[in-house]
Amino acid sequence: MTVQLWTHCDIATLQAGHAVPYGLIKDGALLVEDGQIAWVGRRSGLPADQAARCTREHNAGGALITPGLIDCHTHIVYAGDRAQEFELRLQGASYENIARAGGGIASTVKATRAASEAELQAQSLKRLQALIAEGVTTLEIKSGYGLAIEHERKALRVARALGRSQPAEVRTTFLGAHAIPPEFAGRPDAYIDEVVRMLPLLHAEGLVDAVDAFCERIAFSAVQTERVFLAAHALGLPVKLHAEQLSDSGGAQLAARYGALSCDHLEWLSDAGAAAMAQAGSVAVLLPGAFYFLRETRLPPVALLREHGVPMAISTDCNPGSSPCSSLLLMLSMACTLFRLTPEEALAGVTRHAANALGLADRGVIAAGKRADFVLWDVAHPAQLAYAFGSNPRLQTVFKGDLV
Ligand code: NIG
Ligand code: FE
Repeated sequence: MTVQLWTHCDIATLQAGHAVPYGLIKDGALLVEDGQIAWVGRRSGLPADQAARCTREHNAGGALITPGLIDCHTHIVYAGDRAQEFELRLQGASYENIARAGGGIASTVKATRAASEAELQAQSLKRLQALIAEGVTTLEIKSGYGLAIEHERKALRVARALGRSQPAEVRTTFLGAHAIPPEFAGRPDAYIDEVVRMLPLLHAEGLVDAVDAFCERIAFSAVQTERVFLAAHALGLPVKLHAEQLSDSGGAQLAARYGALSCDHLEWLSDAGAAAMAQAGSVAVLLPGAFYFLRETRLPPVALLREHGVPMAISTDCNPGSSPCSSLLLMLSMACTLFRLTPEEALAGVTRHAANALGLADRGVIAAGKRADFVLWDVAHPAQLAYAFGSNPRLQTVFKGDLV
């Protein structure tokens, strides 16, 4: 059994309720045992009996250590791309109109259905590797580009396989209610019947950790969304929701009634929606990449979320239509510049609050008893992670106690 000690580092613990910004410990020490953090604090305060147990010592060379980053909302398993739609949008077409005309999500569904499991895996792996290269150690991957059981299964299997093959933990979310597939055109309720039929089958195969839906005028109504939530609850699965992205559909209130882990996007969130989320303890997942790429002008109500004490997470939303981006560090910067989060809020948004958005209590902060997922950065201060956009100062990643 190895007991590893990390020294010559500053540690941004991101612990809740810390007395100093970022929970920063200058000249810290970090003791790791069996893939878990056994002790963290000032190096000068390391108890002699703890130090004596150490079997291997790492000199971090003055690096800043943060928790491993968590990307809590991605759609990285898809085939093809939508660069042509990007051109159309730049010529004036809107995201909604492209979707209504049969493009948008439907075009990615076509490409994803046509791809074999191996092709899908190869294409998605590149996106996962880009995330990992920036210090991501846990991520969520949604289905939702298959929209038929064999293709939803394929995508979820690919997501699970990616997690097994790479030094990052993958949590899978079933997003069968993402769009209406062509064979159900004009029959959304019949498709929801199908979603409700698929879910227990995929769950029985061990492919589902949570359930999501897209509640929006171009997707599913609140009534249809609720049927999906009922099916999830019948299986004991937690829910989350793409809510109030393009309009206020009351999705946040509905999700809150089902104790949602998170509501995501939220540009059109109302006061009542924020209050309901606060009551339910749902995390607000803000997605600056989609806001930027769709050239939205309505900002998510950050002041309202702060006022209600709703925790804010930040994620890439990596997907081919609204956020073809696999840089969580860039999202840190955009959360600050576009949404006016503080760099500390943004960093908590890709660590502690992102863990909460996935229902994972064992990570997201550096504290005794938590998983030893952390990153060494070549920066002098944590704010630099959000400040120097477009750079990647990652030096090393430790995943479950071991150097990657
Ligand atoms: O999170 N809003 C719905 N789903 C994705 C976009 C999907 C797509 O356009 O392919 C999102 O923005
Ligand atoms: Fe999304």
